[in-house]
Amino acid sequence: MKNILICLLAMTTLAPAFAAAKPQAQPFGKTTDGTPVEIYTLTNPKGTRLRAMTYGAIVVSLETPDRNGQSADIVLGYNTLAEYLKDTPYFGAIVGRYGNRIAHGKFSLAGKSYTLATNNSPGGMPCSLHGGLKGFDKVVWRGEPLAKPGAQGVKFTYVSKDGEEGYPGNLTLSVTYWLGEDNDWRIDYLATTDKATPVNVTQHSYFNLKGEGNGDILGHTLTFKASRITPVNAGLIPTGELRSVQGTPFDFSTPHTIGERVNATDEQMKFGGGYDHNWVLDSQNGSLALAATVHEPTTGRVMQVLTTEPGLQFYCGNFLDGKLIGKSGKPYQFRNGFCLETQHYPDSPNQPKFPSTILQPGQTLKSTTVYRFSVK
Ligand code: GLA
Repeated sequence: MKNILICLLAMTTLAPAFAAAKPQAQPFGKTTDGTPVEIYTLTNPKGTRLRAMTYGAIVVSLETPDRNGQSADIVLGYNTLAEYLKDTPYFGAIVGRYGNRIAHGKFSLAGKSYTLATNNSPGGMPCSLHGGLKGFDKVVWRGEPLAKPGAQGVKFTYVSKDGEEGYPGNLTLSVTYWLGEDNDWRIDYLATTDKATPVNVTQHSYFNLKGEGNGDILGHTLTFKASRITPVNAGLIPTGELRSVQGTPFDFSTPHTIGERVNATDEQMKFGGGYDHNWVLDSQNGSLALAATVHEPTTGRVMQVLTTEPGLQFYCGNFLDGKLIGKSGKPYQFRNGFCLETQHYPDSPNQPKFPSTILQPGQTLKSTTVYRFSVK
């Protein structure tokens, strides 16, 4: 009895409370101008491990166990910084200052017009995509390791200068990733500015719950808490309408696989080359609410997405074409990954009826998204 007590005592004193330690920064190479990049590894007692680097605040890997306890890396990406520097369709990155599209790369604010680089032209219609030529996915952030009871974290901070990529105002942005013993990957965004500016930041991870490199994502089942989308024109710019999904391939109010209707002859599907649209979430009050549930039947992995944002861009990897070779040496083919980007609606600066994306001096932008992992 005494021995058992001593044993128990030793266990409670020796086993430190989870996440007593802050994650260590490890070198992860240098950018072309010689700036060092670091990578942080967050772990939890559920066997989940997330690695994120200071370049682009990119999540380089995210390992979670399947229903048999077998771990796999469920996000697309590369093993080295050099590959990220060379060519990436925003794998794992934070995109901004304005994530998603701004029509013609133009908007006006307080009577002044602003011109951004047009770095994308779906359907031959130029727009600014994901912050422009050198968006937040292509800059080096400052990393700060964090710990709190039950979670490890890393806070990435970036100051975007007045005029950078054509946007007004010095914008100070922090993005904090937490990995908790609850198996939540929580993302907290905080931003302030000294001039009114549009801001729309999101996380651009490509998921494959079978494991990256393990084929297409068409068998994943999705359920969205959203009854409308913002339909787009051929340039993937919203028309301004909020359209009911009822009776369309966009209705995920009950579970459907991605593949079931992705090749439907639907004008919206034709414009996107598949799903590449913004869903209007039913919850619009800014509180953290369930937006999406994803289930991968062969591995049992489940991912829920919760957000304070009003929109969710679901993109099913229609531009992946096998040219990029991923972490396990396999090419990422058509629809081998999908993104669920929590956000404000595309082109909001030009859409007076959409929720505003303008951040004013003196205001603080606060936004939270959670990717929650489990198995069934
Ligand atoms: C976003 C867009 C897509 C595509 C990808 C990057 O998700 O909605 O159209 O541009 O980024 O390839």
